[in-house]
Amino acid sequence: MSVSYMTHPLIKHKITLIRKETTGTNEFRKIIEEIAMLMGYEALADLPTTDVEVKTPIETTIQPVIDGKKLAVVPILRAGLGMVNGILALVPSAKVGHIGLYRDPETHQPHEYYCKLPDSIDERQIVVVDPMLATGGSAVDAVTMIKQHGGRKIKFMSIIAAPEGVSALMKAHPDIQLYVGCLDRQLNENAYICPGLGDAGDRIFGTI
Ligand code: URA
Repeated sequence: MSVSYMTHPLIKHKITLIRKETTGTNEFRKIIEEIAMLMGYEALADLPTTDVEVKTPIETTIQPVIDGKKLAVVPILRAGLGMVNGILALVPSAKVGHIGLYRDPETHQPHEYYCKLPDSIDERQIVVVDPMLATGGSAVDAVTMIKQHGGRKIKFMSIIAAPEGVSALMKAHPDIQLYVGCLDRQLNENAYICPGLGDAGDRIFGTI
């Protein structure tokens, strides 16, 4: 697996803004979308293209367009939903799947409570989104489930990651590409990322 850490100053600046506890729901949601769009631009830099003929008002020319089946964006419920529109701003024709997981508190086994993916998932470039990569537990389970449904070409985008989450995902799925907005210091005893930004889902949906 390759891990790419974002270096663009606009991404860094916007991540700083969402960390602030005084950033309200409306602004938080908007900035999460903007970061997802900027990260998506970087993560999709290797999309394959094919040449097609187009007629300009001047002449006929051969030019590139994105090749293959439409992209699938797959948010991990619920916080991942906040990143979807950012990707759709770049690729409006992308399909959107959803994946919802919980861990059995006793067995710690992942249980899929919702999974709806676009058809021909094996042929699509998949972009899984979740703003926080903490322990990596849900990320690992989500990718496992997408693979069980046939997904093969998988990119994973997280705005803030803990080293523990990056290691867990790298170890479990060495074949995927991971894009991280900022690598934070560590997890605390409650599995929150430090310094982090708190609970991303609560801050996106105003449920604090
Ligand atoms: N999920 C969050 O929303 N925040 C964290 O810090 C860790 C997991």
